[in-house]
Amino acid sequence: MHVNGKVALVTGAAQGIGRAFVQMLLEKGAKVVLVDLNREFEPQRTIFIQCDVADQEQFEGTFKKAVEHFGKLDILVNNAGVNNEKNWESTIQINLTSVIRGTYIGLEYMKKGNGGDGGVIINISSLAGENILCLNICSFLTLIKKSQSTLNFLVNILSFKAKSNTA
Ligand SMILES: NC(=O)c1ccc[n+]([C@@H]2O[C@H](COP(=O)([O-])OP(=O)(O)OC[C@H]3O[C@@H](n4cnc5c(N)ncnc54)[C@H](O)[C@@H]3O)[C@@H](O)[C@H]2O)c1
Repeated sequence: MHVNGKVALVTGAAQGIGRAFVQMLLEKGAKVVLVDLNREFEPQRTIFIQCDVADQEQFEGTFKKAVEHFGKLDILVNNAGVNNEKNWESTIQINLTSVIRGTYIGLEYMKKGNGGDGGVIINISSLAGENILCLNICSFLTLIKKSQSTLNFLVNILSFKAKSNTA
């Protein structure tokens, strides 16, 4: 996909890997919707939407606002994540449930027949959960990938690549 002129939504965009995604997308000419709990990044061609991705209503609202603002959505980076073993329920909510939910919402907004033109969904994962959570999410995303393959979609998960590298 050529990134120039595309509209991307990046969760966890305020710092770390998400921030690097934003910088790369801007350098390549994209417009970017930054979704995070914290507001730290305000370059041109962006809007910032404060959102807890674990809050379904808020998260759905960010997609609506993004498309209202930029007119479309082409790229989704589900990157927001935490590493908090003590609050494991919240961690699962953010790192797993919200990624699956975000993927479904992204598909709705990007699919042909619903105003979209296909697109790319990038889900960031961790090798640390490879044997448990990542296997579940890989199976889930494989199903989505197959079911949406005729709709000009690319759904990716980094642990696919990581897994094949370590196999
Ligand atoms: N950095 C690593 O070595 C590493 C390794 C494995 C996996 N990962 C994964 O990569 C992703 C990014 O990691 P990072 O190191 O850049 O993290 P980071 O902690 O530097 O940044 C995460 C961002 O997500 C945001 N965030 C957290 N919870 C949120 C929520 N509920 N709603 C909205 N925003 C929220 C934070 O405010 C922060 O800006 C995460 O999903 C993480 O699990 C990172």
